[in-house]
Amino acid sequence: MMMVRLNMKLALAALCAVALLLMLYWAHCTDDRHKPIGAAAPAAERFVAIECSINGEYSVACRRDADQLYLPFSFIKKYFEVYGKLTTVNGVERFEWSHSYSKVYHPKKTYDPRGTFTTFENYNVEVRDRVKCISGVEGVPVSTQWDPKGFFYPTQIAQFGLAHYSKNITEPEPRVKILEDGDKISQNWIISKDAVMSREFDPELKMKVLSFATTDHASSQVWLKLDIAQDFVLTMDLLLKPNSSMTVVLQNKDKKETVYLHYVFNNQLISALDDHIFYGVGEESAWRRVTRDLIVDMQKGWQLLDRPKRKSPRNKFKISSIILRGSGSLGSAQLATSAHTAHFYAAARWLVRSQRPNGGWPVPARRRVAPHVPDLTPGWHSAMSQGHGISVLARAHYRSGDAAFLRAARRALRVLRLPSGAGGVRAVFMDKHVWYEEYPTTPPLFVLNGFIYTLLGLYDLHAIAGDRDAKHMFDDGMASLKALLPLFDTGSGSFYDLRHFTLGVSPNIARWDYHATHVNQLYLLAGLDPDPILLSTAKRWENYMSGKRAAHN
Ligand SMILES: *[C@@H]1O[C@H](CO)[C@@H](O)[C@H](O)[C@H]1NC(C)=O
Ligand SMILES: *[C@@H]1O[C@H](CO)[C@@H](O)[C@H](O)[C@H]1NC(C)=O
Repeated sequence: MMMVRLNMKLALAALCAVALLLMLYWAHCTDDRHKPIGAAAPAAERFVAIECSINGEYSVACRRDADQLYLPFSFIKKYFEVYGKLTTVNGVERFEWSHSYSKVYHPKKTYDPRGTFTTFENYNVEVRDRVKCISGVEGVPVSTQWDPKGFFYPTQIAQFGLAHYSKNITEPEPRVKILEDGDKISQNWIISKDAVMSREFDPELKMKVLSFATTDHASSQVWLKLDIAQDFVLTMDLLLKPNSSMTVVLQNKDKKETVYLHYVFNNQLISALDDHIFYGVGEESAWRRVTRDLIVDMQKGWQLLDRPKRKSPRNKFKISSIILRGSGSLGSAQLATSAHTAHFYAAARWLVRSQRPNGGWPVPARRRVAPHVPDLTPGWHSAMSQGHGISVLARAHYRSGDAAFLRAARRALRVLRLPSGAGGVRAVFMDKHVWYEEYPTTPPLFVLNGFIYTLLGLYDLHAIAGDRDAKHMFDDGMASLKALLPLFDTGSGSFYDLRHFTLGVSPNIARWDYHATHVNQLYLLAGLDPDPILLSTAKRWENYMSGKRAAHN
């Protein structure tokens, strides 16, 4: 996948202009042996300027002190792609050098498909810039990665589901405030003069619901005054008639800034005008359960308005009211700190609903993968989408017992068997080793991380439902992985794919966060398969991240 960036903070924090010579304050003093170390002549006198010619191509200003030479860290950082920052430990400043900006997570226990998906509890898919917003109709993210208009990207939707499934396991229980439960708990809604509101039994929801009707007049409304901080995930049963809306008003605690989140009867994805942000929740006057992370909805509105990202709005805003306009009904309603299960099932249900008869989740955007390779045209399949989709559906089946999830997961295998040239994702390396392609180009690329994620999907389906086809496909894939893994080893890192072999172009070296993903994936697989190549490769590759390269001759 082309989108995970772990620990970019470290990379950003890396300093550009720290001169190493400052660290040598304590250096041996050659001109005056009687003075204590460090109290010698001022640095300016000790370190003389000297030109360093770099490979005879350009020059860098360096310093010399007797027989020692010092290069500026800004140069070293760029030349060797290393990272460093000044820190203070116990009041003493020091410089911390790091070879890579990424981190490896050592699995604490053997991977279990009923548990977290790898380390996805750390993922926050919805806050990524390339997520336009969470669709008001579907409840899943909309990607702008390869198309600014936005499209449903199955890999991203599945990652959203897997992240929330994982967070449901690792995070504390949500705090829940019930606003309306159709029975004992209800609020004092304020009805403007020309509006009406009633409570009656709804045969479909089988509970008392609140029905409202206002006039076209701007001040005509039914509303609820609130003062709630922290619990920003709103879940409600909502039925809107045409031209109606439910608005949540958020207010900044300090600055009296007001933001209006309008959930309206239409199919529009998102729009924003000043402090008004609009999400369409569909054009059907039927009950729907809406689950919205209000802070995410507010941030995506700001993103659309090109406003700068703000730090921790979750601590700065509160919910000040809910306004109903037009006509419709409201069943149960609650506010909570999180609703991971609802987000997870939104992804799982989207996967079931949008799956094609051939089991695929086509990607509706054009994708340029590599120079000299024809673009993948809208409708292409990705083994990673299929694999991640299976991982979501297997878990949804496990949690709910609903066979529809399992059927969809099994159907998804079909695309993995179809060759890349025939609309599928299957490639064969040197006529021998089967590979599930994240990007099914011709010629093939053999992307490593997407392939391993696909294997995990197969493993999940077999482990949860005992699916034998999935087991065979997993075994075939593992055999390929073990055979081809050495080809991904650069001696100091890993290759993202094998384009240097299949296209005869310059190799595509995995940047550190992808390399770390490879290492994480190999440690996980090493817990499932005792073949020593998995663990030994994981360890060697992890060592590359602290600069320990393979030996040379
Ligand atoms: C996890 O999901 C279960 C089942 O929906 C729910 O009862 C529990 O509160 C959830 N916990 C968290 C942390 O989301
Ligand atoms: C919705 O609003 C539009 C324009 O404001 C109006 O023309 C239309 O009649 C309204 N529809 C209903 C069902 O109220």
